[in-house]
Amino acid sequence: MPFLDTTSPAPAAENDGLPDFASSAYKSAYSRINAIVIEGEQEAHDNYIALGTLLPSEAEELARLARMELKHKKGFTACGANLGVEADMPFARDFFAPLRNNFQKALTEGKVVTCLLIQAILIEAFAISAYHIYIPVADPFARKITEGVVKDEYLHLNYGQEWLKANLDTIREEFDQANRDNLPLVRRMLDGVAADAAVLQMEKEDLMADFLTSYQEALTEIGFTSREIARMAAAALVG
Ligand SMILES: [Fe+2]
Ligand SMILES: [Fe+2]
Repeated sequence: MPFLDTTSPAPAAENDGLPDFASSAYKSAYSRINAIVIEGEQEAHDNYIALGTLLPSEAEELARLARMELKHKKGFTACGANLGVEADMPFARDFFAPLRNNFQKALTEGKVVTCLLIQAILIEAFAISAYHIYIPVADPFARKITEGVVKDEYLHLNYGQEWLKANLDTIREEFDQANRDNLPLVRRMLDGVAADAAVLQMEKEDLMADFLTSYQEALTEIGFTSREIARMAAAALVG
């Protein structure tokens, strides 16, 4: 049984153990994390519009998803302003460059499976995990906005899942290669953001675990076998 020292002061109950949102360390980390989120939402918008050119019969639905991403971008821009933080957009554009380049290359080659894997599975699962882990440690303003956003991101993940599921017989080879090319990039992105995320009280292991959960659930839903999923998830380790 642990020894209880009843004389020591109670932990900072005034803010329920939340970070000090006004500290310079918090604001500095937030300027990069907030920028990543804003850039991520903008690129998600652009990617869904681009996907509509590959899937003309789906263009209207994809434009609807794209509009949600712009709404998210607006919300997160307000979160930064609310804390008096200026988002470091050049940092965020660099952060997304490898994944963006791969998406653009697949787009010019007409590879819809690769584009869907990058945006609707990997980026959406990455966003969902980041938002999940952020919500309990966010300031009240940002928490409310993020809770609304995360519901939409599930719709987007679901969109990708359903399309890939309907085409499972023909996608395996391209999906597997695209996964091997892009899953390691997501892991590197997590590594790259870990120090700033920790300042926001978001732990890297929690981010990774939540990401892998959403990612593996999506692969299950698409119809891959557990052996295929284990092999694909292992690409995160070897890339
Ligand atoms: Fe979004
Ligand atoms: Fe999304």
